[in-house]
Amino acid sequence: MATGSKDVRIAVIGAGFMGRQHIEFIRGSARAELVAVVDPRAAAREGLGCATFGETGPMLESVTPDAVVVANPNAAHVDTAEECIEMGVAVLLEKPVAGSYTSALRLVDAVEQHRARLLVGHHRRHHPAVAPARAAIRAGELGSIVAVSGLWAARKDDAYFTDTPWHSESGAGVTLMNVVHDLDLLRHLCGEPVEVQAMSSSRARGLEVEDTVSLSLRFESGALGSFRAFDAGASPWGWDQATEETSAFPFIPDTDAYRIVGTRGALSLPDLATFTYRATVSPDWHSPLSRTYLPSGRGNSFEAQLDHFIDVVLGAAEPLVSAADAARTLALLEAIELSASTGATVDLAGFRASRAASVER
Ligand SMILES: NC(=O)c1ccc[n+]([C@@H]2O[C@H](COP(=O)([O-])OP(=O)(O)OC[C@H]3O[C@@H](n4cnc5c(N)ncnc54)[C@H](O)[C@@H]3O)[C@@H](O)[C@H]2O)c1
Repeated sequence: MATGSKDVRIAVIGAGFMGRQHIEFIRGSARAELVAVVDPRAAAREGLGCATFGETGPMLESVTPDAVVVANPNAAHVDTAEECIEMGVAVLLEKPVAGSYTSALRLVDAVEQHRARLLVGHHRRHHPAVAPARAAIRAGELGSIVAVSGLWAARKDDAYFTDTPWHSESGAGVTLMNVVHDLDLLRHLCGEPVEVQAMSSSRARGLEVEDTVSLSLRFESGALGSFRAFDAGASPWGWDQATEETSAFPFIPDTDAYRIVGTRGALSLPDLATFTYRATVSPDWHSPLSRTYLPSGRGNSFEAQLDHFIDVVLGAAEPLVSAADAARTLALLEAIELSASTGATVDLAGFRASRAASVER
């Protein structure tokens, strides 16, 4: 553990768009010290004011950090995380947990085998609106959930694709890059989906990756859900615009991203508005509706995630998003890809079992 005034010594692996943000969050934390940065690109290692390395192995050997934040490309996540946990180093691993569900299962095994402390970076779960919403849903304040809808739509800049070539390559479309967060959060709030149908399109940008996706979900509870996403459209709707999580997006305070409807009430997020009929005798669609707001905490999801990660590193908390949990979100994403390409409804338990069996053979 740290010998200075900070609780935990952390290295960042991958100093691109996201890694640079993690560097700033660590620098801004009273509990963490940035001890090294790893990136194979010399330009990414310049001007950081800490030890830098081109590869993870030599960094682990010479710096011996307590923990790492892994923000390299998705395909490298599992190898890098395994290398760290084999050295007893705790890991905050950016989402998606792996390049594929089958490689995520390999990581799940490694975490178990090494009793590793690993948190996956589905940062939205740490947003202050999420815990009160989840508690209200689980306490039955909305009755039983019958329907869920969500939207994420914004226009990505052209440089997002031209400056980072892997953003145009198969697997890095709006579903894996953006909807991954929404699906993780909907799983966290509404429970496990059991079936999915998907349609996708790459018409707006004409790239190999999809720019538009439309999903239908059936949850274990019986609730039905829909989610739509576009990354080539001008719009105020989506979690990123409805929160002040990142200054990279304009903040539109009076929009919502998700609407969750129960038999007794409805809830929108992230504003936490709840709607219920006011009539006490046979409340129905003719009754007046009242709107109240669930109390919310304050704070930034990424900073709260780092704080939680430090607790995980110190053994004071279990990871809010484990590798096994995040692997389920990744399986859902792969099932969406299958459904979009075949037109079939995908049964998720069967899908996960067949993918897992393909590794064991
Ligand atoms: N949580 C979020 O909201 C969020 C947002 C954006 C990206 N991400 C995730 O963060 C990760 C990085 O995305 P990005 O947009 O920063 O990509 P990026 O291309 O900007 O940065 C990746 C960096 O990793 C470096 N790199 C490549 N191979 C490496 C290796 N083996 N070891 C160390 N570094 C290596 C690259 O040189 C590059 O600097 C991805 O997994 C992405 O899905 C998360």
